[in-house]
Amino acid sequence: MTSRRTRIYEGKAKILYEGPEPGTVIVHFKDDATAFDAQKKAVIEGKGVLNQRISEYIFSRLNEVGIPTHFMRSLNLREQLVREVEIIPLEVIVRNVAAGSLAKRLGLEEGTPLPRSIIEFCYKNDALHDPMVSEEHITAFGWAAPQEIDDIMHMSIRINDFLTGLFLGIGIKLIDFKIEFGRLYENDMMRIVLADEISPDSCRLWDTKTNDKMDKDRFRRDMGGLVEAYQEVAKRLGIISENEKPERAKPKLVKSDT
Ligand code: TMP
Ligand code: ASP
Repeated sequence: MTSRRTRIYEGKAKILYEGPEPGTVIVHFKDDATAFDAQKKAVIEGKGVLNQRISEYIFSRLNEVGIPTHFMRSLNLREQLVREVEIIPLEVIVRNVAAGSLAKRLGLEEGTPLPRSIIEFCYKNDALHDPMVSEEHITAFGWAAPQEIDDIMHMSIRINDFLTGLFLGIGIKLIDFKIEFGRLYENDMMRIVLADEISPDSCRLWDTKTNDKMDKDRFRRDMGGLVEAYQEVAKRLGIISENEKPERAKPKLVKSDT
């Protein structure tokens, strides 16, 4: 039962519990949405279930193409069993098209394709607002070793290539996304694996034809229709059927006209 489990950590959108065996952790996807360092908060019913399913699907596909992840299996609609890793305190952002903070920082119009994919690192620290850092800061402060940064960059590029193709095939442009990595210790060996989640909460996804946003910007920018957009992503990925409703979803979010 949920109440008897040992809670390891509660974040803004997920709760971690001790797993059934040593070296495992249960990830619980909440319906909570936050933006702008949690200054903006809401509970969006159905979001956690959709993110769990989308992330499960993406991590499984990545495992199949040889990109190691922490994911083991889904336990129920909201929860996954994952391998316990030591999270590297970096948010790795991969960008293909200018949007969000990059567009603002460099004065680019949102939607401008970038000359090539760009990887950015932010130090994972809410109190400091996840400041952007360079490889110099990462190695000087010991957050990751140079070889680990190399591994992270190579994996990030492979993940971007794979996801760009996956989404393009279902009429979605992968504008940018945020990923996190962890150290997995196994029989005196350590390797870097993809951790956390990949979902419309952590990506920018635009419909190829209409440029409609199918991601968390719908919440950040008060556009409404978030659950419907996440459902559409799941439908196109072929992981929920046309008539399937997310758990306990109520038709309370009004669809925007855009
Ligand atoms: P940004 O343009 O706001 O820096 O966001 C870049 C990408 O990272 C975008 O897909 C949203 C995602 N992201 C997160 O997943 N978590 C965060 O805390 C932030 C700021 C962005
Ligand atoms: N989830 C992050 C926060 O609450 C920011 C974001 O995704 O926009 O700060």
